[in-house]
Amino acid sequence: MSEPDDRPARPQKARRSLTHVGGEVERGGSPAVSEALAYALDVAPSGDVEAEPERADVHGFHVYPARMHPTTASRLVRSFAPEGGLVLDPFCGSGTVAIEAVAAGRRAIATDLNPLAVRLTKLKLRPFSEQERALIVARAEQVRAFADERRKQRAGATRRYPQADVDLFEPHVLLELDSLRAAIMDSEPTVKGALELVLSSLLVKVSRQRGDTSDRTETRRLAAGYTAKLFVRKTEELVARLAAFAARCPSPRRNPRVLVDDATLLEKVDEGSVDAIVTSPPYVATYDYADHHEMRSRWLGLRTDHFFRGEVGSRRAYADLEPHEARASWVGELRKMLGAMSRVLTPGGVAIVLMADSAVQNVALRADELVAEACRDVAGLRPVARASQVRPHFHGPTMAAFRSVPRKEHALLLARPRASKGGDGGL
Ligand SMILES: C[S@@+](CC[C@H](N)C(=O)[O-])C[C@H]1O[C@@H](n2cnc3c(N)ncnc32)[C@H](O)[C@@H]1O
Repeated sequence: MSEPDDRPARPQKARRSLTHVGGEVERGGSPAVSEALAYALDVAPSGDVEAEPERADVHGFHVYPARMHPTTASRLVRSFAPEGGLVLDPFCGSGTVAIEAVAAGRRAIATDLNPLAVRLTKLKLRPFSEQERALIVARAEQVRAFADERRKQRAGATRRYPQADVDLFEPHVLLELDSLRAAIMDSEPTVKGALELVLSSLLVKVSRQRGDTSDRTETRRLAAGYTAKLFVRKTEELVARLAAFAARCPSPRRNPRVLVDDATLLEKVDEGSVDAIVTSPPYVATYDYADHHEMRSRWLGLRTDHFFRGEVGSRRAYADLEPHEARASWVGELRKMLGAMSRVLTPGGVAIVLMADSAVQNVALRADELVAEACRDVAGLRPVARASQVRPHFHGPTMAAFRSVPRKEHALLLARPRASKGGDGGL
């Protein structure tokens, strides 16, 4: 997975991603399969986005914690999903796998329990015409003009804001955001969804919050009118990214299904219908996606109660557990998601799960071991191969967990055999 970032459409500077700092890739299980997994994990240490078109376009719009590296997603889809086959990402997040599946001419379903993830993935994959893209930019200019006018008139807010927003934004920034939001609400449906996500993409940047996954605050001195100006710039950037993605998609383009669904149930995906699952579930005890997106969801009017209840592996759920309890709980959650994956896979289908090791207190939770353990109790899913690469661990309080054996990111391939025999622990 790459570090959360927010690249411009034509970046000037190389950005480092976590995928670039791994070392040798170690392999296990089927040699041919593990070689393809290793190739997908071992993304070249290049910041040259021009040389990697799959990194340049829609992926970079809107930050999202722990995105998969697009090159990894692209290689996994092309290696393991048959042409014309159906690819599922049940933890789609910002849509990386579905985007690469569409670019590779595969059919795709993307699901996530986080409504913001679903909105974002839908937007990135929506085939806007050139006229629609032009309309989005034109409306953004009008939205900005409305906000500028209200600022000059010193107009008050159009509605009451909760204390959380009053604390998070400078008063003049909150007023500008309020005007932008009010004007967006008045735009036509084709444009509204896109502009709402543009607003979402800049909320943290103009707030006192340090970053998407940080609770720390800092003072930012933003000039009057800056937020509205940034809004137009981000809209132009989105439209350029959408056009770049459209240009690298095969014609005709297959439109994916993008839905809210719980990955431990997969109620909206037909049984036995999926050829390849390519996915990166949360790293246990590492992020709180529902909390990280609480403010954005509030601004977009998204209901997150289901997500708060159903998020797997969240840091808040694991924070007070002893390491042995955390391990047992995570194996239980893995069993549920692997069970759902097994049910929707076609016989002969494969699931590639990307997951890094985590730690609770000073004890490492090794993702490869825990997935293999969970898999033993899942009918019809068998570990076939893995590739693992050392990745740095930045979390001070749990650093000791990786002192003797370093933290790794794993690509684990599980298969649903044609004649199902149950798990045999082939890793
Ligand atoms: C590591 S992120 C996926 C990132 C994605 N691969 C990308 O490139 O943007 C894990 C995702 O799991 C989602 N998630 C957590 N619990 C879930 C659940 N029970 N069902 C579906 N999605 C869930 C989170 O909302 C988050 O988007």
